[in-house]
Formats: sequence, structure tokens, C-alpha cells
Amino acid sequence: MPSNNTKSQQEKDLKYNWHPYAQMKELDQFPPPLITHSKGIKLFDESGHYIYDTIASWWCNVHGHAHPKITQAIASQAETLPHVMFGGLTHNPAINLSETLVNITPDTLTRVFYSDNGSCAIEVALKMSFQYWQHQNKPEKQAVLYLENGYHGDTLGTMSVSGVDVFHGTFSPWLFKAHAMPVPLTHPTLDSPVPISVDQAITTLEAHLKAHHHTTAAMVVEPLAQCAGGMRFYSPEYLSALSALTTTYNVHLIADEIATGFGRTGKMWACDWSGIAPDFMCVSKGLTSGTLPIAATLTTSQIYEAFYGDYHDHKTFYHGHTFTANPIACAAANASIALFAEEDTLKNVAQLSTSLNQHIHQLAAHPNFKNPRAFGAIAAIDIIDAKTNAPFPDSHRIPRLLYQAGLKHHVMLRPLGNTMYIFPPLCTTVSELEVIMEWIHTTINEVFGQ
Ligand SMILES: Cc1ncc(COP(=O)(O)O)c(C=O)c1O
Repeated sequence: MPSNNTKSQQEKDLKYNWHPYAQMKELDQFPPPLITHSKGIKLFDESGHYIYDTIASWWCNVHGHAHPKITQAIASQAETLPHVMFGGLTHNPAINLSETLVNITPDTLTRVFYSDNGSCAIEVALKMSFQYWQHQNKPEKQAVLYLENGYHGDTLGTMSVSGVDVFHGTFSPWLFKAHAMPVPLTHPTLDSPVPISVDQAITTLEAHLKAHHHTTAAMVVEPLAQCAGGMRFYSPEYLSALSALTTTYNVHLIADEIATGFGRTGKMWACDWSGIAPDFMCVSKGLTSGTLPIAATLTTSQIYEAFYGDYHDHKTFYHGHTFTANPIACAAANASIALFAEEDTLKNVAQLSTSLNQHIHQLAAHPNFKNPRAFGAIAAIDIIDAKTNAPFPDSHRIPRLLYQAGLKHHVMLRPLGNTMYIFPPLCTTVSELEVIMEWIHTTINEVFGQ
């Protein structure tokens, strides 16, 4: 039972806070649990009740909560240099992090530009691409391509290149025009039961690029896994073809590795499955194992050189944020990246991936689920009304019911519309996953019946 302290804090939460992606009326009826501490893959409230962090705190936790090495790195950096501006000054945590990032990303990426969150990292890539073409005397290259159902953030620029209407439809009059390209999914979904083929997708993209490459600056994609768009996956074959086409038609490729990077798909980068080298790579979320907000946009020497010149050439990239390259966040990132080797994180992801795949396919035996799919440490399945074989009407509030029941049964479920998914910290063991899946079965039996 929550203590009085917890209860009054929850009341104050609802009095003063406005939570993200939340209908606050729902929260008034079912206040969010007050989390007081976290350890490993569990979140705790004051009474000791715990929830497995089955969505890795919005897809960013890699090595588990309160990992001593990351905590130590944060503490000692906070004691020596908590923050200093990155305009006109520099510091060791950022220098070391940039060197590491350049070493662990595709060879062509040689420069690192910091910002604070995933959306900003994409904005930076879009703006750099736009300005690059001006420096090349090709100012007409302005258009941006993205993949249907892609998601790249919630700022105005990133909303313009995203295809998830529920998030961004309201703001469409404010957004710049960008073009969606079809995605050859590797699995059916409720809204595309028969996905288009890789060949069809390539043909459409090639036709578009052939006709419009003169006016196209860049194409932005989530490599292989479209997360916010409903945990949809497409093949390395298509990513390779797409990358080759953008190169042929002289259009920048922006790889949004914000959700897929740092091991989520089983390799350090989803791009590694295709061996491609994009013009820009954007990373955030797992960069600090989800401990502090920071993001990076990596790019090539060719793009960097186009901005290099004398002051009066006016080639400067005028973009920055107050907390650019915050030293504590950089120190956390350095510690987190070191843990990949120390803890053999990718080996664990391989085991976790096999197990997630089996579990999600077993779940498909339940009459309220179909279209199981898994890739790396991501597993997803669509929710249906067993009577109609179609999605439940919104009035049934199924995502909300799963969330509420899940909290009681130690799991954090936040379905994306009609898609329930599991996105655990990468350190989750196969035996922990067994326990999590038992709780998920208990939860779904409570919501849908046996
Ligand atoms: C692929 C992808 N790109 C960009 C973003 C935006 O990142 P942020 O929420 O840090 O702005 C997200 C967030 O979920 C994402 O999944």
C-alpha cells in the first residue's frame, strides 16, 4: 500500500505536472506510480513493490539501472567539472567520447556534433544536409524523403519527416513538405496484412529519385526497425538497396539509430546488418545507457569540409544548445560504451533475442494476439478482438488496461496503439525474461480472460 507520503506526492504530481503523451484525465483516474529507486532491470516504489522495466525506460536503458560503473563516472565528473559551455571551450569527456564514437561507427563517419536529445540530433542532420547543398551551389536540393510509418521526433522539423499521424497529424499545417516512401515489411501488420515486396519498394524509390534527385537533399530512415511506428521491421537487403540508390542519386542518407543503436538489434548499429555507411548517423537514448540526456550527429569528412572556410565565407553551421556536450553526460556515455566490452553485452543480446522470438511466437496462440515478430531485443505482437479478428475500438481502452494490469503484475506495458511490445534492457537474462513472460501472461489473462 502506498504511504501517505506517496499519496500526497502523487496528488501534487497531478496538480503540477503535465506528463508526456498523456491524456491527463486518465492519469487523474489512475495516478502514475511514484518510482523512488531502480536497480538492474527493476523499478521500485517506496513500499518495495517493483516493476520490470520491460520497455527500458523508453528504449534507452542498456546495462540496467544504477549500474555502479556509470554511477561512479557520473559522480566523479560531477565533482570535477559538472558543466561548461562547449562554445569556445572544450573538455576531456567530450574529446574522449567523440574519439570512441568515431572508432565504433562506420569508417566514413569522422565528425561528431552534440545536442541534447534524439529529435535535436535529427534536426542537426537535416539542417547540415540543407546547408551543405547551398555550399555546393545546389540550393534547389531541399526536399527530404522518409519511410512510411517512420518516426524521428516531436520537434517541428522531425515531425515533418515522420509518418505517424497520431503523433503529428494535428500539426500538419505547420510542417514542411516531405515525401514518404513505402517500406517492405518482413511481416504482416493489422494495417498492411500483405506487405509490399523489396523489389516493389526499390522500384518506387528509384523512380522517385530518378525524377526528383535534383531537388532532393536527404533521405532519413530508422535502419531496419521502425519503433514508434509500431515495431515494424524491414530487411537488411532493402536497407542496402536504399543506401546504394541514395549514393547513386547524390542524396544524403541520414540513419536514425536513436532507438536501434547501441546493440538493440544484436549488432552495435542496425546499419551494420547491411554494412552501409550513411552520410549522417544520429544516436541518443542508449548512448548513456539511458542515464542522462545527450545526443550526437555523426557525419563524414566530405560534409564537414563543405562548412570549413574563412570567417567571411559565411559557411559556419549556426546551431547549438546550452547544454551541448555536457561533461557529466559525456562521462556517463564513456562509461556505458566501455561496458559493452566488459560485459559482452552483444553476446547477451543474441541469447535474449532467441528467447524473445520464441516467447512472442508462443503468445500468438492466444486468441487476442496476431502478427508476432522479433528482431534483436525487440519483440512485438498485434492486439485483436478475438470476436471480430480486428482491432478493438478505442473506447475499449485496451492499451490503458494492459498498462494498469501490468503494473500490478510487475511489468511495464505501454502498447503503441494496437501493438504490444517488449523492449527490455539489454542486460536482461534469459531466466529473467522467463519470469517477465509469466507476468505478461498473467496480465493478459486478467485483461482478456484465459
Ligand atoms: C527512432 C527515433 N528517432 C528519434 C526519436 C526522438 O528522440 P527524443 O525523444 O530523444 O527526442 C525517437 C524517440 O523515441 C526515436 O525512437
